[in-house]
This record gives sequence, structure tokens and C-alpha cells, in this order.
Amino acid sequence: MSSIEQSGTFALGDRTVKRLGYGAMQLAGPGVFGPPKDHGAALAVLREAVASGVDHIDTSDFYGPHVTNRLIREALHPYSDDLVIVTKIGARRGDDASWLPAYAPEELTQAVHDNLRNLERDVMDVVNLRVMFDPHGPAEGSIEPTLTVLAKLQQQGLVRHIGLSNVTPTQIAEGKRIAKIVCVQNQYNLAHRNDDALIDDLARDGIAYVPFFPLGGFSPLQSSTLSDVAKRLGATPMQVALAWLLRRAPNILLIPGTSSLGHLRDNLATAEIVLPDDAMKELDGVAGVGVESPQH
Ligand SMILES: NC(=O)c1ccc[n+]([C@@H]2O[C@H](COP(=O)([O-])OP(=O)(O)OC[C@H]3O[C@@H](n4cnc5c(N)ncnc54)[C@H](OP(=O)(O)O)[C@@H]3O)[C@@H](O)[C@H]2O)c1
Repeated sequence: MSSIEQSGTFALGDRTVKRLGYGAMQLAGPGVFGPPKDHGAALAVLREAVASGVDHIDTSDFYGPHVTNRLIREALHPYSDDLVIVTKIGARRGDDASWLPAYAPEELTQAVHDNLRNLERDVMDVVNLRVMFDPHGPAEGSIEPTLTVLAKLQQQGLVRHIGLSNVTPTQIAEGKRIAKIVCVQNQYNLAHRNDDALIDDLARDGIAYVPFFPLGGFSPLQSSTLSDVAKRLGATPMQVALAWLLRRAPNILLIPGTSSLGHLRDNLATAEIVLPDDAMKELDGVAGVGVESPQH
């Protein structure tokens, strides 16, 4: 058994993926804008992730824009049959690197075609609708007009499965009436736990929950409890933060982001860490500490 298989597996649409995956956002330039600072290093991270057994990569054409998808294609095409690439649509980048909604039917359609072209795929495995009523966190509002467009693209055979990102439970319920929802991608980590109840509800329905900013995103998690537990277990704080997520619920799929081979190796080694009950309990108390301001 390769070490990351020890993280277990969960269904993502009609595929089963390992619970330790990889998020590609950090491969773009500063502010997730423009090319990477080291093109070769970015390719090396992607290749090592897959060589280590990662079969779930999260990306978007608005990372760069177009940068991470093109890196994925350059590093990994032709793709192995078991690789699931998940993208998201619903946003675009301004010239000043801002994150703007892109909800018009033609923008959503173009976004799916851009992802297909840049990744060199005929069909996307999973496309998340990234809801942008408030770019920084879930906010109520009907997703029917946008999700209906994505559902049509699915009916046309361009998209196998649909997920939702930055959404409320009400929007998920609305979404389920329009299309089968296979995953939800919201901000969640040891310190930012607004979705605790939602995760358990989704687990009961067999829907994957994919936390973004699992390590705190642009402001990595910092907590003395986290550091203490890590020291006791002979692990790094970031590994413990990931191990906590793996134990938190069986439907959590991890996509930690890194541009560093060393961090990638650390993150994938998390599969071998089993948090004892007392450590889980201590870490459960961290919520509310070190909450960072959300980004995309
Ligand atoms: N749906 C959405 O709206 C949304 C929003 C944000 C992100 N995402 C997705 O979620 C993925 C994960 O989020 P994220 O990458 O923003 O944040 P993250 O995984 O919480 O953290 C990434 C940050 O942690 C650092 N890091 C990674 N591994 C580390 C380690 N072992 N030790 C120390 N530092 C480490 C990275 O720097 P180095 O590069 O130096 O390692 C980077 O600064 C993204 O890649 C993206 O695919 C989705």
C-alpha cells in the first residue's frame, strides 16, 4: 500500500479518490496572478504529487488566469485514467488581479470550454460552481440561474459531475433540485468551523466535502495547541492540522496547496499520522483561534 492510501478513499461522483489530494492554486504567481516564480519547480510538484499516488487535483482557469491549468497539462498530459481533475467556474480576474463574478450564461459556457482547452480534456470530471454573492464567504441568494447553465453543459456531455463552492446549506438544497451535487468546497479548517453541521449532513448523503484553506490559506494556521500536539507526535503543525481534518469526518477530501516539494512531501505523509483521541479533543478546542480573512 502506498503511504497516501492510508488516508482512505471517498466517492467523488462515479469515481473513488484517495482522501489526500492536491490543490494547484499556489502554483500561480503572487496573488494567484501570472506565471509561477519557478516554472520547473511547479511542474516538479505536480509530477511528484501524482507519482506519490495523488488522484485528485483541484484547479481553476481563474488561477493565473489559465496558469495552473496549463501547468497541469504540461506536467501531466496524457493523464492517467485514475486522475480526477476538479475545476471551478463562476469567477474571473480583473486586470488588477481582482476576483469578479462571471455569471452570465456565455461566461459560464466559455469558462467550461477554457478549462477543457487549457487542460486538453474532452470532458471535465467535476466542475464546481463558485458562488460569488460575497466572494469572501457564503451569502444567500438563488443559484438557480447559474446552476441551470452548468446543468445544461452537463447534459451536453462537457461536464461529468457538478459541485458547489462558497455556498450555504439553503443553496445546496436549491442546487440538489437542479442537478446531482457530488461535492461542496467551502472554507474550513481547525480554526474556521462554520460548516461543522453541514459536513455531517453531507456525510450522511454521501457528498464529499472539500475544505479550501485547510492549512489557513494565505495566513497559515498558528496555535500553541497545534504546536504542542505536533511536538508530542513528532509531526509538523501543518501535518497535524491535516490529520485533524482526515479524522474529523469520512467525507472530507483534502486538497492542501503548495508550491514546494518539501511541503508536498510533508502533506502527503499526513496519511500515516493517526491522531489519538486526546489530541483530537485538544485540537477541537482550537476553533476561533487564528481565523484568517478569506480569499479565493
Ligand atoms: N473554492 C474556493 O473558493 C477556493 C479558495 C481557495 C483555495 N481553493 C483551493 O483549495 C486549495 C487549498 O487552499 P490553499 O492552497 O489556498 O491554502 P492551504 O492549503 O490552506 O495553504 C496553502 C499555504 O500553506 C503553505 N503550506 C502548504 N503546505 C505546507 C506545509 N507542509 N508546511 C508549511 N506551509 C505549508 C503554502 O506555502 P508553500 O507554497 O510555500 O508551501 C501556502 O502558503 C487551493 O490550492 C485551491 O485549489 C479553493
